[in-house]
Amino acid sequence: MKKIIITIDGYSSCGKSTLARQLARELNYVYVDSGAMYRAITLYFLRNHIDWQNPQQVREALDNIELEFFFNEEKGGSEIFLNGENVEYLVRELIVAEKVSEVAANKDVREFAVAAQQKMGEGKGIVMDGRDIGTTVFPHAELKLFMTADPAVRVERRYKELYAKNPNVSIEDIKANLELRDYIDTNREISPLRKADDAIVLDNTHLTHQQQLQFALKKVKELMD
Ligand code: C5P
Repeated sequence: MKKIIITIDGYSSCGKSTLARQLARELNYVYVDSGAMYRAITLYFLRNHIDWQNPQQVREALDNIELEFFFNEEKGGSEIFLNGENVEYLVRELIVAEKVSEVAANKDVREFAVAAQQKMGEGKGIVMDGRDIGTTVFPHAELKLFMTADPAVRVERRYKELYAKNPNVSIEDIKANLELRDYIDTNREISPLRKADDAIVLDNTHLTHQQQLQFALKKVKELMD
C-alpha cells in the first residue's frame, strides 16, 4: 500500500499527540512529536546556560546536540533522547514549557529542527505533529490536519496530565503558559503557527479519541481509494 505523510498542527494542548500516536499505530507508521525536539533543545540550553539571544552560542550548542527517538515497547510509544539520555519526562516540566516557545522562535534552532524532521520523513509512512509541519516541514504532505479545541477544555486537559505527575502544579500557571506559548507561536517571524491552506480543520472540543481517530482514518482511506 502506498505510504503518505500526515501532518497535524494546532495550538498547545489540542490533543495532537494523542491522535498522531493512535493514527501511527493504526497505520503502522512512524510517529514524530516535533514539539519534543524543541523541548529537548530548550532543556539543553537551560542546563548549559546558553543565551538563545546570542547566535554564536546557539550555533555552537546545536553542534553538540543529537536528538533521537526510540520506541518504548512497554509504553507503546516513542521517547525523545538528548545526546543518548532519555528526557521524555523531563521535557514535559513547566520549567521547559515556560521557555520553549522563545527558543523555538530562534532561526538557527528552527533550521536545525526542520532539517532533522524532513530527513525523518524521507521514507514517508510518517505522522508528525507540531506547529509548522503542514506549512514548512512538509508543505506537500498528502494529508494535513489542523486541530483546535475550546481553550478552557485545553487548559483542563493539560492540568489533568501534569497534575498526575506533579500535584503541585496550579491551573492558573498552566493557563498562563498555554496562552503565552500560543501567542508567541502565532506571532513569531519564522514559520508562525497557522493553518495550511489545504489543511482540514478538526475541532475536538466535543469529540472522543475514538471519534477523532475515525475521522482521520476516513480521510486517509479517501486518499488511498
Ligand atoms: O507540541 P508541544 O506543546 O510539545 O510543543 C512545545 C513548543 O515547541 C510549542 O509551544 C512551540 O513553541 C514549539 N514548537 C514549534 N514548532 C513545532 C512544534 C513545537 O515551534 N513544529
